[in-house]
Amino acid sequence: MSSDVVLVTGGAGYIGSHTCKALARAGYTPVVYDNLDYGHEWAVKWGPFERGDIQDRARLDEVIARHKPVAVLHFAAYAYVGESVTDPAKYYRNNTVGSLSLLEAMRAGGVRDIVFSSTCATYGMPDALPISESQQQRPINPYGASKLMVERMLVDFAPAYGMRFSALRYFNAAGADPDGEIGEDHNPETHLIPLVLDAASGRRENITVFGTDYDTPDGTCIRDYIHVADLAQAHVLALKTLREGGASDFYNLGNGQGFSVREVIAAVERATGLKVPVKESGRREGDPAALVADARKARDTLGWRPQHADIDDIVRTAWAWHQKQPR
Ligand SMILES: NC(=O)c1ccc[n+]([C@@H]2O[C@H](COP(=O)([O-])OP(=O)(O)OC[C@H]3O[C@@H](n4cnc5c(N)ncnc54)[C@H](O)[C@@H]3O)[C@@H](O)[C@H]2O)c1
Repeated sequence: MSSDVVLVTGGAGYIGSHTCKALARAGYTPVVYDNLDYGHEWAVKWGPFERGDIQDRARLDEVIARHKPVAVLHFAAYAYVGESVTDPAKYYRNNTVGSLSLLEAMRAGGVRDIVFSSTCATYGMPDALPISESQQQRPINPYGASKLMVERMLVDFAPAYGMRFSALRYFNAAGADPDGEIGEDHNPETHLIPLVLDAASGRRENITVFGTDYDTPDGTCIRDYIHVADLAQAHVLALKTLREGGASDFYNLGNGQGFSVREVIAAVERATGLKVPVKESGRREGDPAALVADARKARDTLGWRPQHADIDDIVRTAWAWHQKQPR
């Protein structure tokens, strides 16, 4: 087992904290670097916590010099698509400029390898389904663009400065730690499954279904939900592959199967035994009818095997976590 230290930016957040657990299980020591804008100190359980902002170069330099990480897993970002449209500067500054600051700190500190949280939002409206890594990336909002710019920096930095990267384009992260230790706790919450759970349990009045006239079997939008524990495992594999000399690359992370909004609501009703009050509304601008990943490359190259692909499994873990939350 390795006891290598890795720096996890945004490790107090949803996907970052689940990945810290998986990293610790794999023998790494995850040092969380998070400004707690959205993360939670209670979610930092598997290694030291360093509070800091990725835009703060001096603080990053100090933390890298002290902990001497062998690699960085970079989750820190803002991820509210709607807000990125009304306040794009906030997204380019935090996600793009912040990542530049991190890459420069890595270079100065002699850290070679980075696993970066990219997103299916870099593709925009897909040309074909399922979406493979070679499909054209034309983001339709500043959030997606702010992430695509980081991918571009990685492509240019790698050969110029002897760095290596793995950029993981997640589809819709969902579910919670199967042991119930951590889970999703965004504020505000915009993700479908926790919102439907809120509606089922009476924490909100209803769930709004945006658009019922899409060209999909039941008229509602289809997304590819990937369990957060499976995402976490993909990060461990990507890190190992890089450490063992694997080439820099991009990988989609999804199940390759889509579920409609109505199917997710039905899964929540099965898991909870409760009726979900639904309000139907018009389409939201910029919502593609369907987003489904072709994630064969992650399976073939990284040896990734999602363990919780079943939507009922995903919703069950999310519900178990949801019930533990005081609200
Ligand atoms: N949740 C999804 O479905 C999804 C899908 C695709 C991509 N992503 C990407 O995955 C990453 C993690 O997403 P998440 O859902 O866990 O979000 P999250 O908000 O729970 O986690 C992000 C963390 O980064 C921290 N952070 C933000 N800006 C920072 C800064 N400047 N310095 C230090 N820390 C900072 C926040 O406090 C938070 O703890 C993000 O980069 C996001 O863009 C998420």
